[in-house]
Amino acid sequence: MKVLVTGGFGFIGSHTVVELQNNGFEVVIIDNLSNSSLAVLDGITSITGKVPLFENIDLRDKTLVRNFFEKYTDIAGVIHFAASKAVGESVEKPLEYYENNICSLVYLLQELQKLPEANFIFSSSCTVYGQAEKMPIDENSPIQTALSPYGNTKQIGEEIIKDTAKVTAISAILLRYFNPIGAHPSAAIGELPLGVPQNLVPFITQTAMGLRKELSVYGNDYPTPDGTCIRDYIHVVDLAKAHVVALQRLLDKKNIEKVEIFNLGSGVGSSVLEVIQAFEKVSNQKLAYKIVARREGDVTMAYANTDKANSILGWKTQLSLEEAIGSAWKWEQKIRS
Ligand code: WQD
Repeated sequence: MKVLVTGGFGFIGSHTVVELQNNGFEVVIIDNLSNSSLAVLDGITSITGKVPLFENIDLRDKTLVRNFFEKYTDIAGVIHFAASKAVGESVEKPLEYYENNICSLVYLLQELQKLPEANFIFSSSCTVYGQAEKMPIDENSPIQTALSPYGNTKQIGEEIIKDTAKVTAISAILLRYFNPIGAHPSAAIGELPLGVPQNLVPFITQTAMGLRKELSVYGNDYPTPDGTCIRDYIHVVDLAKAHVVALQRLLDKKNIEKVEIFNLGSGVGSSVLEVIQAFEKVSNQKLAYKIVARREGDVTMAYANTDKANSILGWKTQLSLEEAIGSAWKWEQKIRS
């Protein structure tokens, strides 16, 4: 039995491959290396001692996707990470995002619907909730109009999967991530720094390494205790483990519905300033930052209600914010050494 991981050389994908291999699964990675590197393969192997199979395929090529499933006839499950994910870039290049994120998903599902049964785990995002009214956010929180084409591709992707599961033998679990951060404790894999970081934690660690002059804190006039935005930061290793649990649930046919949805977060909200303070504590150094204007599209607050994932999926985070930030810092130092 093999498990296909698309985008398996990406940030969350690579950490999930490690956890799959640690749990005895044979992994096939599809990645077009557009936002990752083959060096990640060595990182994965250095952790687990197992070399995943790898196919350099662009999922936008329908024929290549079909050929893949003709070659690999023993795929027991698919975990689909491959997608473009930069919120700001998606506003600049909407058609690239719709083509990549939607067409790839459709071509994958067109092959899976031919199988006698298929198990599909979809990488979704809390961004589908927009600015939720009620905190903490549970899975019944209303989906709001997406604030970016990226967020819209996640919403549309979820709808495509739901419609397809109704009339095929595909069972699916949609995992809505909150804010993934950190790196594998070995520092053999982590979030590859490609360009100027858009996300908070890589910008913090690059600033601390002297690669950036200072961190710009996007606004401290929000209606929160310290005026900065609140998010639910989750260690990427905890997040990766949730994918193995979700896949096993489908393999064991324990899913109650054809499509199940789970929020994946720590359940704890942390402000930007609290993340900075946590970094200063784990790194034992001061961080240079300044308060600037708000960033367009930022929500004030988002943190997960984890009851459903805890009780039904049987998963909860084990690692703390400080452990996550410490692992991100160790990774930053490793790749700059
Ligand atoms: C977190 C907080 C910023 C950078 C996005 C996507 C989400 C997911 C994770 C893909 C916010 C503040 C940030 C900086 C700052 N991506 N910040 N200075 O926007 O919550 O979520 O990334 O799946 O879908 O929406 O994450 O890390 O960009 O921002 O002050 O230089 O840090 O304002 O409050 P975000 P983020």
